[in-house]
Order: sequence, then C-alpha cells, then structure tokens
Amino acid sequence: MVYSRIAGTGSYLPEKILTNKDLESMVDTTDQWIRERTGIEQRHIAAEGETTCDLAEAASRKAIEAAGINVDDIDLIIVGTTTPDKVFPSTACLLQKRLGNRGAPAFDVQAVCTGFIYALSVADQFIRSGSAKTALVVGAETLSRIVDWKDRNTCVLFGDGAGAVILQASDQKGIESTHIGADGAYEDLLTVPVGISSGFERVQAGDAFIQMKGNEVFKMAVKTLGKVVDETLSANQLEKSDIDWLIPHQANTRIITATAKKLKMSMDHVVVTVQKHGNTSAASVPLALDAAVRSGQVKRGERLLLEAFGGGFTWGSALVIY
Ligand code: UT7
Repeated sequence: MVYSRIAGTGSYLPEKILTNKDLESMVDTTDQWIRERTGIEQRHIAAEGETTCDLAEAASRKAIEAAGINVDDIDLIIVGTTTPDKVFPSTACLLQKRLGNRGAPAFDVQAVCTGFIYALSVADQFIRSGSAKTALVVGAETLSRIVDWKDRNTCVLFGDGAGAVILQASDQKGIESTHIGADGAYEDLLTVPVGISSGFERVQAGDAFIQMKGNEVFKMAVKTLGKVVDETLSANQLEKSDIDWLIPHQANTRIITATAKKLKMSMDHVVVTVQKHGNTSAASVPLALDAAVRSGQVKRGERLLLEAFGGGFTWGSALVIY
C-alpha cells in the first residue's frame, strides 16, 4: 500500500505586523472587541510589492530543506491560493520557476480557506495512484490585497502568509484519508463579487474586496465542521480519542473551540495560531502545522486531524499520521 507521508514542512510570514491597536486608528473598533469575538491579537501584512509567490517560495524552501530533498525530486506542485500574483501563469508555475524545477506538473487550486486541504487531497490522489512520488503542496495568500481597510466587519480578521509541505510516497502510514466538499448555493455569504470575466473595470478601480455576512458564515462553519469531523472518524472507524492533535483552519477561536468540544478534545491538543496570524485563508492550516512541528508539539507517529471551511462554501479534512 502506498501512502503520502509528510516529509517536511515550512512556513513564512511577512515582516510587517499589524496589531489590533493599529486597527483602532483605522476603523471604529477596539482591541477588546477583536480579541473577544475572534481571538486575534495581530496579523502579518505583505510589504508593498511582496507577492503571494514570494511568500510561497520562502515557505517552500523551508519545507524542501526540512524534507532533505532536491528541487529536482519534486514531480508535482500544487498551490492553494485565492490571491494569485497574476491571472496567469498560475502561482504554482511562477513558484516552479523560482525554485528552478522544470517539468513537474504545476497548478493552482482555488477553494479559498479550504485551498490547502483541497490541494493536499489532490496531491494525495496523485501519490496513491503512483502518478507522483514527491509533491510540493502550498497554501499561500496575500489577503490584505482584497480587504477593504475601511470595513471593520472584515479588515480586522485577515492576514498574509504561506505554509508548505513536501509529501512523499511511502510504505509507512501518512495521510489516512481526505474528505472535501462544497456547496455553491452559499456564494453570497462570503465573496469578492468581481473578477476578470464579470467586472474587470471594478477590479481595476480597486473595488475587489471581501464581503462577508460574518454571523451566518460562523454558524455554517461550526455546523459543517462538526459534520466533517464525524465523516472523517467514521470513514476510518476511529473514535474521537484516537486523534492526537486537531489542526484547524484559523478563522476564529470560537469556531475552533466548538470543533474541539465536538471532538471532546482538551485545548492542549488543539493547535491555535489565530491570535498571531489572523485568518490567512489557504495558508492557515499549513502555517499552524509548521508551527506545531517546529515547536515540537506534534511528534512523528501522532495522528492529526486537519480541517477547514471557507468561501464557496468549501470544506475539507485530512487525517494524517505525521
Ligand atoms: O475563513 C472562513 C470564513 N470566515 C469565518 O469563518 C468567519 C466567520 N465569522 C466570524 O468569525 C464572526 O461572525 C465575526 C468575528 C466576523 C463577527 O462576530 P459575531 O459575533 O458574529 O458578530 P456580529 O457579526 O453578530 O456583529 C456584532 C456587532 C455588530 O453590531 P450591532 O449590529 O450588534 O450593533 C457589528 O456591527 O459587532 C459589530 N462589529 C464590530 N464592532 C467593533 C462588527 N465588526 C466590528 C469591529 N469592531 N471590528
């Protein structure tokens, strides 16, 4: 049996930090409101001219080093992102060029906050089927570029960053299963309602901003993630107690706590980085994973449940023996 095993992880956060205090001078908000409602204390913001590919490259180089592989060994590159550098080539192709890899298939996956889980799921299918042996899977975003910095409902929530993993074919257990889903009926609850084909003038006018009905998204996120957790456990005939670590999408500590409660997990076994990173969309799960690996929280052989929920709506999970 062939498994996809996480051989190395990496991440990168832009230097600039924007604190809740900083936001108090930008919109009608308070540090207290942001902490109480979201758990967020600060977020990183890409410098002018710093792009999603720049962040992805820095995270990828660290993952490649941690895995101890050569760039030429990579035979699949997938980037989960909603904020690509260009309409085309894909950020995955731009990243491939930067890294100096030639020939591996490279493409982006657009599933907003679930982008990394989707990308991981696709890479896992390639490796299990024998079509790839060493995959670079990245979640990278510069969400700050599509945030309306005058809208207090959204601008306090998001941040920039990137996380990456190297997946390798192995006969040792790695990814046990992935589960992804979507329901496009919820388009209007979380959207950037302009784009190339439907309103390029508004994109050019700088009107391409995130719009979110926060409270409705919140309720759907809690409900859907609860179902995803049940589906993942039952597909693997596992009990809640079989999970060593929950590594959730970092949108809001209240959503994270609700999922942990569903799993009857103590928060000591939940990786929480939202306070420092904010919601980095597709980057949030691999950023949290890398933080947990590098801090020594997560150890080889432990079972991790990765999960995410985002615009689309999209959702997904991955059960992984690290
Ligand atoms: O990444 C995946 C998708 N995204 C998410 O998962 C995010 C999901 N949603 C959330 O995390 C939460 O809904 C929010 C943090 C966005 C909002 O928290 P909430 O408890 O759902 O608050 P609310 O939307 O019900 O708004 C409560 C009040 C409103 O005032 P009124 O109408 O009660 O007078 C808002 O206008 O809070 C007000 N408000 C703010 N006040 C101070 C909204 N944003 C702010 C703000 N500072 N930044």
